[in-house]
Amino acid sequence: MDLSPPRGTRDFFPEDLRLRAWLFAHFRAVAASFGFEEYDAPVVESEELYIRKAGEEITGQLYNFADKSDRRLALRPEMTPSLARMVLKKGGSLSLPARWFSIPQCWRYERTTRGRKREHYHWNMDVFGVAGVEAEAELLAAVAAFFGRVGLGPTDIGIKVSSRHVLQGVVSGLGVPDEQFASVCVLVDKLEKVPRDAIADDMAALGLDDAMVDAILDALSLRELDGLAAVLGEEHRAVTDLRRLFDLAAAYGIAEWLVFDASVVRGLAYYTGVVFEAFDRGATLRAVCGGGRYDRLLSTFGGKDVPACGFGFGDVVIIELLKDKGLLPDLPPTLDAVVFPMREDVRHYATEVAARLRRGGSSVDLLLDPKKMKWAFKHAARRGARKLVIVGPDDQAAGTVRIKDLDSGDQRDVPITEL
Ligand code: HAM
Repeated sequence: MDLSPPRGTRDFFPEDLRLRAWLFAHFRAVAASFGFEEYDAPVVESEELYIRKAGEEITGQLYNFADKSDRRLALRPEMTPSLARMVLKKGGSLSLPARWFSIPQCWRYERTTRGRKREHYHWNMDVFGVAGVEAEAELLAAVAAFFGRVGLGPTDIGIKVSSRHVLQGVVSGLGVPDEQFASVCVLVDKLEKVPRDAIADDMAALGLDDAMVDAILDALSLRELDGLAAVLGEEHRAVTDLRRLFDLAAAYGIAEWLVFDASVVRGLAYYTGVVFEAFDRGATLRAVCGGGRYDRLLSTFGGKDVPACGFGFGDVVIIELLKDKGLLPDLPPTLDAVVFPMREDVRHYATEVAARLRRGGSSVDLLLDPKKMKWAFKHAARRGARKLVIVGPDDQAAGTVRIKDLDSGDQRDVPITEL
C-alpha cells in the first residue's frame, strides 16, 4: 500500500501541526482584533452551490460526486458560497453589518505546483451589509496587520487593488451586454495568465473581436489612478471608489502596502466591485490572498442581495514565502512535565500525582509502561518537558515527589498536596 496521502493533500504530523496552529493563531488574533466572529460550515455541500456558468477554473476543479442516495455533492473549493447560503438562511434575523471569519479546509482538483495543492486552508474574512469601500479598507488593513505580525513588510509583499468597474467601464463602451460581464471578467483574468491565442475562440464566443481585446488590454495596463481618471472620468464609480479606498488606506497607515493595478480582475465570476490580491514582490509565488466585493451573489441563490466583500487567504503560499524569507518560527514541542514512576508498585501514587498536576492546569505526559531512569530523561528532553517528576517508593512513603527542573538541573522534593 502506498503510504503517501492522495496527491496534493497533506498529512499533518505533530511538528507540521504546530506550524499550522501558529499560523491559524495569527489569523484568529487579527480577526479578533478587527472584531470578527468565527463561523463554520460543512466541508461537503450540495454541488449546485458551486455551479456557475461563467467558465471559471474553479468549476472545472470541483471534487464532486453522487452520495449513496444519489445526491449531487461537492467538497467545498471555497467558503464564500457556504457563507452566502448561511447569510440567506438567517435572513432578516441577521443583524447587519456582520463581520465573520473562518479557516475552512478547501478542495480543488488542480495541478499541484509550489504553493498550490488540492487541499488547502483559506482564512476568510467577510463583511456583509456595508455598501461602501470602508469595508474593503477594513479588510485590507486586516491583511496588512497579519503580514506585520509575521514579520513581513511592504517591501516583501504588496496588495494590488483594482475594481471590476474599471473593466465594466471599458466593455460597456464596447457594447458588451451586462449579463455577459461576469464571463468577460473570467476570460480577461485568463488573458493575464495564458497566451491570447489560447482563448481566442472563447473571446469570439463572447462577441469580443481583436480590437475590443486590444482596448481591454490597454485599460488593464493602467497603474495610476490619474491615468484611470483620464480614461473613465473623475466621476466614474471605479475612480471614486478607488480614490476613497486609497485615502482610507492612508488613515489606516497601510498605504505603502497598496498598489493600484488595473490588471487585477480575479477569476471568480461573482465579484462586482473592488478586487484585490496580495503578491510576493519577489514575484516568485502565486497570489498570497485574494478578495473583493460581491454585492450580487445572494440573488444568484434566489435571495435578496446584501452588499458584501471579503477575502480568502491560503495557508500554503504564505508558508512558502515565510520559508523563503527565513521567517518561519522555531516551534519545538513543549510540555510542563513528564511523570516517571520508578517502579510499578508506585504506579497508583504516580497516577495520582499526574492527575493532580493536570487538574492544576499543567500539561503532563505520564509514562504508561515500565521504563528506566535514563529513558525517562531522554523522553522528557524529546518532548520538550520543563520538568521531570520522579516518583519512587520513598516519595510514596513520605507523600512527596522529586521534581527535577530540566533547564537548571535543580531538584527538590515537594509534598503531593502542594503540587
Ligand atoms: P481565491 O483567489 O480563489 O478566492 O482563493 C483565495 C486564496 O486561496 C488564494 O489567494 C490562495 O492563497 C489560496 N488558494 C486558492 N487555491 C489554492 C490551492 N490550490 N492551493 C493553495 N492555496 C490556494 C476565493 O476562494 C474567494 N472565495 C475569496 C473570497 C472570500 N472572496 C470573498 N470572500
